[in-house]
Amino acid sequence: MENQILDLAKRVLAETEVHSVIDRAMDQLIQLSGAERGMIILFDQKGGPLFETARNLKKEDIEKPMFEVSRTIIDAVKTDGKPICLPNALDEPSMKKSKSTIRLNILSVICLPLKHNRDIFGVIYLDNRTVRGMFSPQIFELIESFADFISLSAYHALEKQHRDQHIAVLESELRSKYKFDAIISHEPKMIEILKIVSQIANSEATVIIQGESGTGKELIARSIHYNSSRRDKAFVPINCGALPENLLESELFGHIKGAFTGAVSNKAGWFETANGGTIFLDEVSEMTPALQVKFIRVLQTGEYSRVGSREIRHVDVRVITATNQNLKELINEGKFRKDLYYRLNVIEIDLPPLRERKCDIPILAKHFINVYCEKYKKSQMHLSHDAETCLLTYDFPGNIRELENAVQRAVALSEGDTIVPDLLPANLYKNQSITGKASQFSTLTEAKRQAAEQAEREFVKDCLRATNGRIRKAAKMAGIDASNFHKIMKKHEINTAALKT
Ligand SMILES: Nc1ncnc2c1ncn2[C@@H]1O[C@H](COP(=O)(O)OP(=O)(O)OP(=O)(O)O)[C@@H](O)[C@H]1O
Ligand SMILES: [Mg+2]
Repeated sequence: MENQILDLAKRVLAETEVHSVIDRAMDQLIQLSGAERGMIILFDQKGGPLFETARNLKKEDIEKPMFEVSRTIIDAVKTDGKPICLPNALDEPSMKKSKSTIRLNILSVICLPLKHNRDIFGVIYLDNRTVRGMFSPQIFELIESFADFISLSAYHALEKQHRDQHIAVLESELRSKYKFDAIISHEPKMIEILKIVSQIANSEATVIIQGESGTGKELIARSIHYNSSRRDKAFVPINCGALPENLLESELFGHIKGAFTGAVSNKAGWFETANGGTIFLDEVSEMTPALQVKFIRVLQTGEYSRVGSREIRHVDVRVITATNQNLKELINEGKFRKDLYYRLNVIEIDLPPLRERKCDIPILAKHFINVYCEKYKKSQMHLSHDAETCLLTYDFPGNIRELENAVQRAVALSEGDTIVPDLLPANLYKNQSITGKASQFSTLTEAKRQAAEQAEREFVKDCLRATNGRIRKAAKMAGIDASNFHKIMKKHEINTAALKT
């Protein structure tokens, strides 16, 4: 008997789609019990039927008056979660009253809940109209055990379906987010760039994107990926500058167990994760000369080895890189390989800073107002004339990201439908220094906090100036690790390009 159940369970558990699970379970239940008719119903969150399968019954039947007894039994199981087995429904005092029991000769009935923890998400119904006592206690017990496996399998299948639907929604959101028309610009130079980007998206060409921090390099890289035939595979963005030198190689290519202290198991690298898709390497100039050699190899042949291993592996990955360093200068200084530069530079895209495309400020601001009004569930807002002037006269060292952050903050703070200058960050409408005026701050704590922020910002900038914009070196100078240094740069919208000598 146990073997029989295990055998049935295995077959049901092997199914992963909801319909296949309940269909297969239904056939097996009929076989196992000798029932004449059967039905499995899975309910949605509100208790309505979500999936059904039936044998010798039509799903419409259950709505009919003559199905009253079955409906009563199903409702009772759905509410109480207690299995019911009536060897002879006609003998049940509660059922005797029902004319339909007699008229339809419903004799033997089994009804069981499908449960996950305490939640009842479905029922199994079996009956026989001609044989009394069709379902013996042994059969009932068997079916009860089998129902546990059906519950498990059906629950997993429902979850999987839910996940698949969720992923499909996210994917379509992603695609529309990275459609080229989601990249906003009226600037002729940008429109020209977007034209090139849409032409090359579906090629395999390597692309290098140059531009200051916050100009949209990653947005362009994602748009290329989501408009290419690789769109169904991964897009993997890596910031080479935000990882310590010695970690970057194993992050990119993976490592084997014991390759270095801390390599406790084999680990795949980002190239492997991106297989079939696109890898986006930001701040590519931060690679050491030794890593540059390995990078050329993977670019040329698709071959690489995990750190600590000689085994040659293969990947098929499109490479998009970005930098805000002048690579030609680095080549002259012997810090960047010329052959790598030419490999990366098949298509070069130069994104202009926002201060050189001021005509985009109002439309971008409007776009971000819409995005954040929707996100924060606020009604429509607009910029006051003065606020727009503030934005138009500001230089935006942090480019579009800085504009986005400013608008996001204003939308969050605004209580009316107009964004006035007061709602913009102070540095945006007055390039004030934090020396002093009591009236400027609400409390001493706030004054101290802002002074500390300003000191942090200036210190980080000084380190970048002293190291000619090399993030890792600057981080070393500041005595913190590269990834934290990078986070602070982001927080203060610091742009290395503006700090190089
Ligand atoms: N033309 C645009 N239209 C709409 N949104 C944009 C546009 N350009 C950039 N953005 C938005 O601005 C933000 C910054 O862009 P992104 O992260 O691509 O910049 P980045 O150049 O990669 O910055 P960093 O150098 O700091 O990594 C993102 O939220 C992006 O969606
Ligand atoms: Mg980026």
